[in-house]
Amino acid sequence: MAQLLPLSRAARLAGVTRGELQKRLRDEGIETFEGKITVTRLLSLYPDADLESDPVFERIQKIKADARPKRDYTDGLLPEPEVLMTRLKEVNAVLTRTKSSLNYAEQVLKETLQRLAHARSLVGATKLQATDELRDWLEHKVSTEMPHHDARAALFARDAFLKVLAPSVRVLSTGHEFFVEGRDSLLEAGLKAGLHLQYGCASGNCGACKARLISGKATQIRPHDYVLGAREREAGYLLACSWTAVTDLVIEAIEARTPAELPIQEVRAGVDRIERLADDVAILRLVTPRTNTLRFMAGQSVTLTDEDDNSAAYPLASCPCDGRHLQFFVRRREGNRFSAAVFDGSLATQVVHVQGPYGDFVLREDNTAPIVFVATGDGIAPIKSLVEHAISIDTAPWMHLYLVDDAPWLSNVCNLCRSWHDALDHFRFTLLPAGTTVPEIVDAIGADHADVASSLVYVAGPPARVEELAADIRRLPDCSEGSPRVMLCEV
Ligand code: FES
Repeated sequence: MAQLLPLSRAARLAGVTRGELQKRLRDEGIETFEGKITVTRLLSLYPDADLESDPVFERIQKIKADARPKRDYTDGLLPEPEVLMTRLKEVNAVLTRTKSSLNYAEQVLKETLQRLAHARSLVGATKLQATDELRDWLEHKVSTEMPHHDARAALFARDAFLKVLAPSVRVLSTGHEFFVEGRDSLLEAGLKAGLHLQYGCASGNCGACKARLISGKATQIRPHDYVLGAREREAGYLLACSWTAVTDLVIEAIEARTPAELPIQEVRAGVDRIERLADDVAILRLVTPRTNTLRFMAGQSVTLTDEDDNSAAYPLASCPCDGRHLQFFVRRREGNRFSAAVFDGSLATQVVHVQGPYGDFVLREDNTAPIVFVATGDGIAPIKSLVEHAISIDTAPWMHLYLVDDAPWLSNVCNLCRSWHDALDHFRFTLLPAGTTVPEIVDAIGADHADVASSLVYVAGPPARVEELAADIRRLPDCSEGSPRVMLCEV
């Protein structure tokens, strides 16, 4: 069916007033269909009608905008997100139908040309007969057959829909891609996707997240104090923490791929909260200043020093996507004065000096093998961080986490792992009691995964135990000294 346009919209598209359009229709004796005309008819009257931009509409909107009191545009012009989403879905349905018709027309045209070429190659009566057949076939195609479901068109429309909701960004130097969703800046979206983009303050002050737009359209969503020079702006530079994607983008940005590419940083953080999980275990939550966050990779550690110069090294248990809110599991240890300050509460009012990150117990960027994670005791901190990162980058065909500790203080972590197990087809979680021996752990892995030799194994826990686990895993059938590759973290 021909696409019909209400007269007012048709007038906008033609760049005339509704009255002018109506007069022209009357003058030329053109009937409308319940106040609508077809796109074809509109284009026959106004061949230059621009179906994409809408000058009159823009003019009217400008007049209205100038007339109304100044206020944030989100307050007046944009509909509610739910309304916008419903409208987008409607546009999507129209796009699917239109694209289906277009695909169909293209296919008919192609076949017509083939049949025509065939008819032309004939002579005499057969040529005439072929021409008649072609005409009958075309009539049949045009009058009866219309596509009911066109998978290509549906995919095309879906892709267009997703481009509106979550445009993609490709980092030129690494080829990494991520989607920008909701109100995220380019930096937030990149970090959530597990990329190690360079940044400093994450709030538009330092300029460390400077990136260059190669293609696509981006827009500034937050004001920033850092000033980009005129030349930089001309060259397409923007601040990833303050800009977002309007369309699919290609950008040039600095991205660390190995721990060696991350600088050792010094950050002064405040204590956000200390939460006792058991008599001898607590979660320490630190918060850094907005302008001085910590860049790290999942699985890495830092050294924490209190105001009395008591130091201790801890693996980060939080996601690298948030360099401001840092989390640590702290166990009370005999002779460790830093942990004593955590448990006697004296750390709560101090500034903590964070130095790092350290260590190469991180996910291998190029890994596409399945991953086995084994956390025993306090090894859960770096393993939790690694699992979160592995889920974000989503390159492993499957992952299986064995947590060898069923202490009550781990109940929240266990619940989190169970939720991953339930939600993700390629993630499994197995909880083993704290007393499980190394041979029993390795037997469980061997029984679950006969192909463990081709996987990547991350083991974290007390030093003696992780060494023993690595040695025993390598003794499983088909395994050897170098396979599977085992990464160790002593906690
Ligand atoms: S990270 Fe500092 S300006 Fe963007």
